[in-house]
Amino acid sequence: MNSKCEETPYLLQQRDQFVPRGLVTAHPLVIDRAQGAEVWDVGGKRYLDFVGGIGVMNIGHNHPKVLAAVQAQMQKVTHACFQVVAYRPYLDLVQRLCGLVAGSSGIAHKAVLFTSGAEAVENAVKIARAHTQRPAVISFRGGFHGRTLLGTTLTGMSQPYKQNFGMAPEVFHTPYPNAYRGFTSEMALQALNELFATQVSPDRVAAIIIEPVQGDGGFLSAPVEFLRALRTLTEQHGIVLIADEVQTGFGRTGKWFGFQHAGIQPDLVTVAKSLAAGMPISGVVGRAEIMDAPAPGGLGGTYGGNALACAAALAVIDTYEQEQLLARGVKLGERLRQGLVRLQTRFPQIGDVRGSGFMLAIELVKDDAARSPDPELNQQVIDEARNGGLLVIKCGVYRNVLRFLAPLVTEEAQVDEALDILEKALSRVLS
Ligand SMILES: Cc1ncc(COP(=O)(O)O)c(C=O)c1O
Repeated sequence: MNSKCEETPYLLQQRDQFVPRGLVTAHPLVIDRAQGAEVWDVGGKRYLDFVGGIGVMNIGHNHPKVLAAVQAQMQKVTHACFQVVAYRPYLDLVQRLCGLVAGSSGIAHKAVLFTSGAEAVENAVKIARAHTQRPAVISFRGGFHGRTLLGTTLTGMSQPYKQNFGMAPEVFHTPYPNAYRGFTSEMALQALNELFATQVSPDRVAAIIIEPVQGDGGFLSAPVEFLRALRTLTEQHGIVLIADEVQTGFGRTGKWFGFQHAGIQPDLVTVAKSLAAGMPISGVVGRAEIMDAPAPGGLGGTYGGNALACAAALAVIDTYEQEQLLARGVKLGERLRQGLVRLQTRFPQIGDVRGSGFMLAIELVKDDAARSPDPELNQQVIDEARNGGLLVIKCGVYRNVLRFLAPLVTEEAQVDEALDILEKALSRVLS
């Protein structure tokens, strides 16, 4: 190889030759290293990383406290399997997670750890079914819950996730509120009641699973009154309410968890992604009496709650507290939102600026009466932004939403720089 820059085409060709096309890589880049809110490709070019491994790096790449915790744990034990012997980082982490989820509710909680977000979702459903002895699960259109068979069935987007992969039984979908498209909380509740009347009676429903802010579905927030009504309805019918906080958790929306904005207490909460700064770990945290429903041996997984990942997660939680990262995320979110609203006044193709905390997105639309989704424009803007040094990805059922998942440790100057790159990208694409 003559120069580092020449490596990229070779590596991308290697990628195409040995990785199946079903696994898409959003940007034609091969990265070499990362720090904070920045990554560098193998050619040495620097990018602002406003994707963070899809909402995993809320604490930023290579945080020194996380690295130190993992290195220290590596000297002791890397893997033991909690089904065989217990170890301290697992025990400390489940206790911390129970405290964070229970908050001041005074309700006894328990937690169990897994490896991926989809696995946490699967197990939350298993626990809910064991507790209620009912089969059905309701999820939302536009929701995303992972790529396992149950995960894709729960997911409320057909392509590319479902294809002809088959479906898990007893899953029903209902619409999610969408303020931009005029679909209110009342309409969504009416649709849910219709589902109860026409398809599955509430006494057959084990669980309703909801993202407080839909992630892959387009950064739509569930209004506070909708989450509260859902809590009341599920209590009335003995249905387990599962908050899927895989993307919204750990400060992304300005609080530890998205459900906390509504002041409700879900029965079960799924966590993953930014819990451990890129070490693969997930969990289900919930009311102790529900969590204890599966009989001994019903829960587990060889790698669930791996010791290195637990050590990373404990360092993440400590660092959030020590560096007040929740407040920092709120402040950065306000700055980014103001910048995006300013861009909206210049570019009418930005139909909506939305989200919560530092979980923000813009919806790109056509200049027609229906404000139709414009996925082609979105892709052009994303590509142009990358050329300018900013990494972002799309979301939304129609893939016309551009989302920002920058670390909570991003510098204010980096937020401004990202806005500047985005503005130039929009002007170039739209000129
Ligand atoms: C809300 C939500 N649930 C579940 C998942 C699945 O997580 P994983 O990809 O770790 O299996 C995701 C991933 O994006 C997610 O955003």
